[in-house]
Amino acid sequence: MTALLRLFRFLRGSVRALALSFGLLLASTALGLVQPRLIELAIDRGIEAGSLRAILWSAAGIVLAAVVAAGLNLASGYALIRSSQRMGYTMRNALYRKVMGFSFENLDRWRTGELMVRLNSDVNTVRMFVRMGMFIIVQSVIMVAGTVVAMYLTDPGLARVMALFMALILVLFFGVASFIRPLFMRSRVALDALNNTLQENLAGAKLVRAFARQREEIDKFARRNRDLFNISLDVGYKLSLFFPLFFLIAQLATVVVLWSGGTTLISDFLSGAAGNLTLGKLIAFNNYATMAMFPLLMLGMVLNFVSMAMASAVRLEALLAEKAAVEEKPAPLRLPSLKGEIRFEGVSFRYGEGERALDDIDLVIRPGEKLGVIGATGSGKSTLAHLVLRFYDPERGSVRVDGVDVRDLAFDTLRTRIALVLQETVLFSGTVRDNIAFAAPDAPPADLESAAAVACADEFIETSPNGWDTPVGERGSGLSGGQRQRVAIARAVAARPDVIILDDVTSSLDAATERRIVENLYREFRGRTAVIISQKVNTVRHADRIAVMEGGRIAAVGTHSELLELHPTYRTICETQAGLGPGGRAPA
Ligand SMILES: Nc1ncnc2c1ncn2[C@@H]1O[C@H](COP(=O)(O)OP(=O)(O)OP(=O)(O)O)[C@@H](O)[C@H]1O
Ligand SMILES: [Mg+2]
Repeated sequence: MTALLRLFRFLRGSVRALALSFGLLLASTALGLVQPRLIELAIDRGIEAGSLRAILWSAAGIVLAAVVAAGLNLASGYALIRSSQRMGYTMRNALYRKVMGFSFENLDRWRTGELMVRLNSDVNTVRMFVRMGMFIIVQSVIMVAGTVVAMYLTDPGLARVMALFMALILVLFFGVASFIRPLFMRSRVALDALNNTLQENLAGAKLVRAFARQREEIDKFARRNRDLFNISLDVGYKLSLFFPLFFLIAQLATVVVLWSGGTTLISDFLSGAAGNLTLGKLIAFNNYATMAMFPLLMLGMVLNFVSMAMASAVRLEALLAEKAAVEEKPAPLRLPSLKGEIRFEGVSFRYGEGERALDDIDLVIRPGEKLGVIGATGSGKSTLAHLVLRFYDPERGSVRVDGVDVRDLAFDTLRTRIALVLQETVLFSGTVRDNIAFAAPDAPPADLESAAAVACADEFIETSPNGWDTPVGERGSGLSGGQRQRVAIARAVAARPDVIILDDVTSSLDAATERRIVENLYREFRGRTAVIISQKVNTVRHADRIAVMEGGRIAAVGTHSELLELHPTYRTICETQAGLGPGGRAPA
């Protein structure tokens, strides 16, 4: 419940609209209570007394009250719709901002499908609770309180009997609701699982076909779907207990009221005594009793709404409370540009509880240097790059850029002045131009073109029929692997960074193109720092220096010829790679 109440902070901007809505609702509900009184008047003063005037006046009153009540109710609904939609809107934005603030570590832990359910379905559940649930609760409580008072005023004896039945119904509702509540949380979890499966499957749709795994994936989805089906069925069955039980008790109450009221009227009539109860009063009382039952039923239904919203609120609060593993410090240092020195000082790092991915790294990359990084798969090359941009913070030691600990630098400085081309190419749907201009949306076309030229992307862009407007599908579909990599490199170059890091992004390119790109980059980044990570000697051999990584450590640093001479691992790498002659000497 506290989680749900805490989410009400998103209603802060709508306090006045809410107050207006509930004020109008109060007025409209109170007006609704007038009707049975007017019927009582029509019967006792009109029909019994034979006065047509009294009947007409009562009828006019009933119509007027109904019309005004309907108008007030409508206005109240509008105000509430506005408040609840605003709440949903602000909540979604806040959640999205939260997810955008996630560091890589948070992203490693949260699954996409789960986030989608929270941002869509859970937000909607809470919003609907504010729209319907609160409306119904307020209206029902007013109606129940009002009708109980009205019943007491009409006939205290009968009112006591009714109160007993109403209490019975409430107990029943709370009982069933508490019984169902845990099921709602389980149904959300089942929905998460279904969405994760769906999301991963759609993202990997081509892979599934490539391995002819559709049948297995269909089965997997069906299993998740069945879990959700079973829980939903369980919830539905238990929920359906409400109506029959409720109607049973309500009918019983009516019978008891009619019996007890009727016998009183008859005995008064037979004894000739003028009792307190009249036929009009009995009918009015019965009307109030029926009026009291309806909001009770609504309250019962709303209890489940509350349970559902509570389950969603807990999940939303958990997401909102998630702390970004890497956060910008309060008054970070902003630098207009970097000289480009990167220094690792005793840096160790592990992912979660895993093995050390980096182990006591000491490395200085000088301003303007071209550094190659080579090493076997899993040796920690990408991790090294991720730490420079503070995707993760080191467990021990520090990474310094221009002498400043990256933890003191603004994300803006760090991530706009240093461009990292990620190992896994990610493109957005749009055009080739949109993708290259992603980090520099205001760059003039000439800059984009020169960036494309550096990345050798101009060749395929210019020869394709749509040129720069060549559409790129989701995740870069429509382009070849090598074209995607070149667009990604062009995107980084177009951002005009002071440092560029390429994480194994020439793997899909032929040797000649790769070589041209590396040469272009060296020329383009003359005076600026460039780090080129690769598993291939040919990619890094012309760098000023090459760092060799082995099992999370820097095994050696030196020029190609130095390493070839001095470092056995490097020599072995050279020898095993195709195109390199005996003794590790590459053919000219
Ligand atoms: N997000 C992650 N969560 C957990 N472990 C990870 C994660 N990313 C990498 N690792 C582990 O950290 C180690 C270093 O990985 P890293 O990606 O830095 O290697 P790499 O040298 O870039 O390899 P490759 O040449 O294959 O790209 C590996 O053992 C890997 O399994
Ligand atoms: Mg890597």
